[in-house]
Amino acid sequence: MLTSFHSRAQAEFHPAPSIEPPEATKLAVSSSLPTDAGCIGAFVGADEGVKDPHFDRAFLKAAGFEGKAGQTLVIPRTDGPPFVVVGVGARAQLDAGKLRDAAAAFARASGKQTHLALKLPDTGTVPADVAAQALTEGVLLARYRYRPYKRKSEQEPPLETLTLVAGSGNTAEVELGMARGGIHARATAFARDLSNAPATLLTAARMAEVAESLAKQCGLEVEVFDGEALARLGCGGLLGVNAGSAEPPRMIKLTYTPKGQPVGRVSLVGKGIMFDSGGLGLKPNDLVHATMKGDMGGAGAILAAMTALKSLGCKTQVTAYLMCTDNMPSGTAMKLGDVLTVRGGKTVEVINTDAEGRLVMSDGLVLATEQTPRPDAIVDIATLTGACQRALGVLSAGVIGNDQTLVEQVKGSGERTGDTVWQLPLDRRLRQELESEVADMKNVGGDNAGAITAALFLEEFVDGLPWAHIDMAGTARAERDNAWRSKGATGYGTRLLIDFLMGFVPTRESRH
Ligand code: BES
Ligand code: MN
Ligand code: ZN
Repeated sequence: MLTSFHSRAQAEFHPAPSIEPPEATKLAVSSSLPTDAGCIGAFVGADEGVKDPHFDRAFLKAAGFEGKAGQTLVIPRTDGPPFVVVGVGARAQLDAGKLRDAAAAFARASGKQTHLALKLPDTGTVPADVAAQALTEGVLLARYRYRPYKRKSEQEPPLETLTLVAGSGNTAEVELGMARGGIHARATAFARDLSNAPATLLTAARMAEVAESLAKQCGLEVEVFDGEALARLGCGGLLGVNAGSAEPPRMIKLTYTPKGQPVGRVSLVGKGIMFDSGGLGLKPNDLVHATMKGDMGGAGAILAAMTALKSLGCKTQVTAYLMCTDNMPSGTAMKLGDVLTVRGGKTVEVINTDAEGRLVMSDGLVLATEQTPRPDAIVDIATLTGACQRALGVLSAGVIGNDQTLVEQVKGSGERTGDTVWQLPLDRRLRQELESEVADMKNVGGDNAGAITAALFLEEFVDGLPWAHIDMAGTARAERDNAWRSKGATGYGTRLLIDFLMGFVPTRESRH
């Protein structure tokens, strides 16, 4: 019964509705206010710096509107669609992030309208294309909802058109930025879909099929490794975690090769735990456990980011390893005290079956170091530790690396995209916490600094190559709508990775 229910649901289920054309919002740039828009947005600042000729400040002030960042005021009209005035704060502090947040506030204030128009403000020092990109992302991401399992009557209608109204002087830049924003937002929505999808429907095998189905249109080479292939490669970390599961594992290798000479080579490794029950060390029946279908958010962000590289003309060569399985308890599951042999031969004593992410990541990291030519940098991304969420909260991920120039590049991408990161130290004095009686290391350290000891574990497998690790456990989900983060999976990391790969420069240590 259950099986037939599942197979029917799986057949009918599209894990990635956001990548299908019918959902796509039409993006347009216009020099006049469209007459068919359901709502027209305009920005007003907290000082005279950002103003709109349509609105008198005294009039807005009388209505309680001061132009604070995120504040909105709906102004109905008898002769046209309502205006939504959105505050952007002080002009001196205006940046892409403020504009993205303000555009999201506009989208949330404009209800269920299917046609929106937004007047591009005088953006001061923010270039027009950067502003247009941020505004487009803010609106599209705020309007995102995961809909496949909602009754039709409860579904909010998808946004059909978004028009940016801009003076005719910079139409080309605005169009460029808007197109880029559309690509970034679509990729992020795709990553959200993957993390929001129920784990029984989006299995490791299904994830591989999704990757394969996108390969051609996205200019990616996709190689899928099943359990036997993984055994031949000696991927004992991924196989160990998979041992308790009725679903087979998959390692999905993605390659993007730019036209012409690549500017640099980056390898990515993503945690793809399709569901993390904790294994034999079963998680309690709580909210963390209930959201563990999203424990593949790292792998999802990489796959989604890579779907955007061709259309953006990325010059970096990218190879990615998505390490996919669920982590389940059963009679065949790995036991506490078991020793796994990871790709390359290092052995790991499993002290905690819930510290499974680092086990699957280790095989991927080793494979990345074995590539010829060797990558200029390795970046891994994983929903790895609750400790990182405790330390940094849900807005910034942790970043830890062995090469400061590379970490700075990741930080810069975080700032530009709003997928912010905060650096934690790679404090090697804590390495001794991973010492094992019987193996080369244990898979967990002590009670403290869990995000750092997890990174120290991963560092064992990068062979000294420039490496940065992003721990997105805290940022993977939003418990409520917050600016462009819609409740549920955030798609964190997708835009950060796109931005990082687009701007990557090999660090001094790795340049050859
Ligand atoms: N997937 C979890 C980490 C996580 C926690 C992600 C909260 C998203 C939200 C990971 O596999 C895990 O279980 N980590 C343990 C590590 C511990 C056993 C060393 C944790 O954080 O408790
Ligand atoms: Mn776990
Ligand atoms: Zn996990």
